[in-house]
Amino acid sequence: MFDTVYFDGIYKRKADVSISPDDRGFLFGDGAYEVVVAYRGRYFRKREHLERLNHSLRGLRIGGLDALSLDPILDDLMRKNDVGSGDVTAYIQVTRGSAVRKHAFPPADVRPTVFAQLMPVVRDPSFKTGVSVITVPDTRWSRCDIKSVNLLPNCLANQLAQEAGCIEAIFVRDGVVLEGSLSSFFAVFDGVARTAPKSNYILAGVTRQAVLDICEREGISFSEEPIYLTELQDAEEMFITGTTREVAPIIRLDGQPVGNGQPGPFVRRLAELYRAEAEAATADAKTA
Ligand code: PDD
Repeated sequence: MFDTVYFDGIYKRKADVSISPDDRGFLFGDGAYEVVVAYRGRYFRKREHLERLNHSLRGLRIGGLDALSLDPILDDLMRKNDVGSGDVTAYIQVTRGSAVRKHAFPPADVRPTVFAQLMPVVRDPSFKTGVSVITVPDTRWSRCDIKSVNLLPNCLANQLAQEAGCIEAIFVRDGVVLEGSLSSFFAVFDGVARTAPKSNYILAGVTRQAVLDICEREGISFSEEPIYLTELQDAEEMFITGTTREVAPIIRLDGQPVGNGQPGPFVRRLAELYRAEAEAATADAKTA
């Protein structure tokens, strides 16, 4: 399935890709990535994802590549893999390239390694019926705005969540609730959806922004202000957002039910509006 991938300028079978053991992505986790979802054969908010990849590359000082130039490659991958009008996830990864192991950057003539592949969209039924999450201390670095492939704290946190029978771990730094290991976090207080303001401590989620745009358009109250762990007990509803999870209600946090333990009306409405927006945007003649 989706056997054709893109690797360093060439489309080839995934089984034929060989990546150097000297690749800095392998040695140092020295790279950035993006995940974009296509609905019925058209990408949703592709430009925003590629612009964020540029932000990540600039943050890592990886030069020599404009992520916007990858736009046609994502479309080619759909054609070459006969996606047709199906839903699909695109994964793009760029590393600083391959060079003898040395912490400082390699010589300027070392080109970034670029890889892109398609993957199935996996939608767990709980993304609709409600998910359980735990909170964990944020052990990440202080440039969480960079979508780095160096995801060890995220993997460790997510594993803790899985072991607790949950699907997501929400990072808390100095008492402030920030985001999940692979999703943004929202809580609803007095009918107002609140999410952490953009900073170096969160990834500027594309879905987070889509949700805020929907709130703005629909006159739904929201704020981008810090959420404190001590306040969470007063939240009427909570939800996570992400490219692969859309808008998913949280029904249990740290073993306690959120609200009445069922998805509330606020998040149900937002989830429907988000789905409608994604389908409308991708129904246009041009890919978004
Ligand atoms: N993760 N926060 C973190 C730490 C993330 O890794 C992600 C996405 C998000 C949500 O961002 P967006 O709405 O742009 O998908 C927030 C992707 C899906 C992943 O790592 O697979």
